[in-house]
Order: sequence, then C-alpha cells, then structure tokens
Amino acid sequence: MQVQRAQGTEDLYGPYMRSWLKVQHVAGRLFNSYGFDLIETPVMEQVDTFVHGIGESTDVVRKEMFRAVSGAILERVMENGSEKGLKARQRLALRPEGTAGVVRAVVEDNLCPPGSSPVKFWYASPMFRGERPQKGRLRQFHQIGTEWIGAPDPAADAELIILLMNFYYELGFKPEDLVLRINSMGDDSCRPTYRETLRKFLMDDEEMYASLCDDCKVRAEVNPMRSFDCKNPHCQELMVDAPLLKDCLCDECKEHYAQVKKYLDQVGINYIEDPTLVRGLDYYTRTVFEVECPKAGVGAIGGGGRYDKLIEICGGKSTPGIGFAVGFERIYLALQELGVDLAGDEIGCVYVACAESHLRDKVFEITHALRSAGVRTECDYQARSLKSQFKQADKLNAQVTVIVGSDELSRDVVTVRDMQSHEQVEVPVADIATYITSN
Ligand code: HAM
Repeated sequence: MQVQRAQGTEDLYGPYMRSWLKVQHVAGRLFNSYGFDLIETPVMEQVDTFVHGIGESTDVVRKEMFRAVSGAILERVMENGSEKGLKARQRLALRPEGTAGVVRAVVEDNLCPPGSSPVKFWYASPMFRGERPQKGRLRQFHQIGTEWIGAPDPAADAELIILLMNFYYELGFKPEDLVLRINSMGDDSCRPTYRETLRKFLMDDEEMYASLCDDCKVRAEVNPMRSFDCKNPHCQELMVDAPLLKDCLCDECKEHYAQVKKYLDQVGINYIEDPTLVRGLDYYTRTVFEVECPKAGVGAIGGGGRYDKLIEICGGKSTPGIGFAVGFERIYLALQELGVDLAGDEIGCVYVACAESHLRDKVFEITHALRSAGVRTECDYQARSLKSQFKQADKLNAQVTVIVGSDELSRDVVTVRDMQSHEQVEVPVADIATYITSN
C-alpha cells in the first residue's frame, strides 16, 4: 500500500519552503520594527478556548474544527457514543486560527494587566480547518499574524492596517494589485439593537424567511449578521436590501471609525468601505478589514480587526485588542499569478570532488574542514566517476568545486574550480577553508 498525505494538506520543500522562509523573514524584520515579538502557542488547545473565543455559531467552530482525541479517550467516546462526561481538559482541538490561543496565553499568564503597556505578538504557524479543499483553501495552512493587546486608540487600528499593507508590498505586491476593504462592526452599545433590526428583517416576513437557505434560517436567529457572508445567490439577493450597521453605529463607534479612516488617508492607503464586511469570526468589534488580490482569484489573502471584548470573554479583565492574519499559501499563489518570484535562487554550495577513489579520506577531511568553517559543503557518497561528480555538483547548484587529485596532493594543494567561469586555481590544502570563506 502506498501511503498518501492527508486531504487538503501539503508538503513544503524546495522553492515552496524557501518562499515560506522568505515570508517569515520579511515578517520578522518588519514586525520587529513595529515592536512585535514572536510567540508560539500550542497547536492544540482545549475546545472551549475556540468555542468562547471564536464563537459557537461560526462555521469555523461548528463545522470546520478538527478535534484531537488520544487513543484512550477515543475508546471512551466510542463506548459512550458522545463526548459527554469528558472533562474540559480532555476535549481538545487543533487550532483553526491564532488569535484565540494568543489571547488565552495573555489571559492565563496575565501578560497585560490593567494599566500596563500594550503587548504585541506575532506568529507564523500552521492552522487547521476542515474545509472542502480547493485552490487556496487547505485543511492545514499557514498563517502569519499579529495580535496587539491593550491599545484602544484608533491610531493602532490604522497602524496595523498600514503594517499589513507594507508587508504585502515588501513581499512583491504593488498597491494596484490589492483591494483593502474596511468596515466598523460597532460595539456592545450599538450592535445589539442593530442585530435585532436585522433579525426582524430576516424573520418578520414569513414568505421571505421561508425562502432563506437552511443555514440562513439558523443564522437569522443565532447570528443574523452572518447572512451577509452567505454564498447562496437567493440569500445574497435578499441581503442587498438588508439594513446596514453603518446607519446604526453609536457616536463613539462612528468617531473611532472616522479616526481610523483619517489616519489611513493621511498616509495615502487606499481602501474601500464595505458595510457588508462582517468577517467569519464572532469576536470582532469596531474596525474590521480584509485584503484581496483580485487577479489571483484565491479569496482573501489576509484579514483582521479589533476584538475589544474577547479578553473578557476568555476570563481576563476588560482589555482591548486588535490583530490580523495572512494566509501564506494564498500569498504564494497570488504572487505566482503576478509573476513575482518569492522563492529566490536555490542555495549554493561547495562540492568536493574525488578524482581517485583512494583519496576518499582526504575528501572526508576537506569536507569536514569546510563545514566547520560554516560552508555548505557536499561530496560524493556513491563512488561516482569524476564526470558524474561534476554533473552532481551542477545539480546541487555548486558555485565552486574543490577537486582532490593525487598529483596536486603530492604538492599539498587542491584545485578550486569556479563553476560559472570554469577558471581554476590551486590552493594549499591547509588554506582551503580560509580561501573559500574569503572569496
Ligand atoms: P481569517 O480571515 O479567518 O482570520 O484568516 C486569515 C487568513 O488566513 C485568510 O485571509 C486567508 O488568507 C487564510 N486562510 C483562512 N482559511 C484558509 C484555508 N482554509 N486555506 C488557506 N488559507 C486560509 C483569522 O484567522 C483571524 N484570526 C485574523 C485575526 C487576527 N483577527 C484578529 N487578529
């Protein structure tokens, strides 16, 4: 039987891996200049972390979360026919996104007590969602994200959006390749009234309610704003006439949103105001945003927003928060579509070629000396002919080949061949590492 990778997962190696490393490298440098520190939270969290954090009624929690069960617990679940009776700590899931875990860590370790300075984290990690795999939609994918906890100021919203856009530009996108949409989701003082208005819009007209898709019938009751995201053409048509939150925002939310837009205008970031942008996660308040690369056709390449209630919901003291995450695989596909090479050149090396088999020990010695000096070094392990060693050196992208031959060794030198110009020089064996590292 030939083993296969799990559906919707990918292996990262070669140019794909170099691209992932490049994206992390650019993020590390740029995010550092904004004061963000790297965090790695566990891939696995208690289910409750996501249920409370992301929201019980979201598709991510209801339909897409991968549950993680140890063998012993699985037996119990099979016997009982359900998870009933399991303790919270036994109910685990693979993280579908990064925010809930970071917020859990901030609350659990009290990293941002009231009155303290904001904390800023970034991450580059695999996420898991049980979605139907297609181009740009995977079951294991990689997000690069930031979370900024403790900053209510609208300047933080604007700065984070500016950071996000600069990140795309540094990766090779041009401003004209991207569409940034923004919206305000209101807060506890204006959203409940709006939700009720929207619920009535969806439910009061019996005929209209009956025509909604099954999902929207549930959404209408539980979380009517989710209906703006419905993919059913009939529901989309009905939602065109739906009341909009922007007309119901309280004065504070209106002012906060106006300030965010003012800062974005000030630095010349283009955006489209989209009053139907609600995002797929329940924790958002006030500013939300999403970025697409329309030419790529892979959906959103990033998104985020403010979550001023989340820390309290997760058991902390009332503390504001804001963040974003981008999807690496979608960025990779989009840049490919735009003809931008993210991977860069293959890494080079030095190849140590063995001209006569009895010199194998000398090749071992020189290879060891070069590696000890930090040089990526390869040689032959299959007793190949000199000709096929040269071919292998080319394949391995060797810039230089060190040829070990008995004639040269009798004079205590080796031949160093530049693989591009084919120029050759003789270098004393004792000086080879110094010669390679200084040329
Ligand atoms: P999200 O919009 O669910 O937000 O995901 C962020 C990005 O992850 C998406 O824009 C997309 O590029 C990528 N992505 C999502 N699902 C998939 C998938 N199945 N396959 C490939 N890529 C995918 C969040 O996750 C929030 N935690 C962002 C955030 C951080 N909000 C505040 N802080």
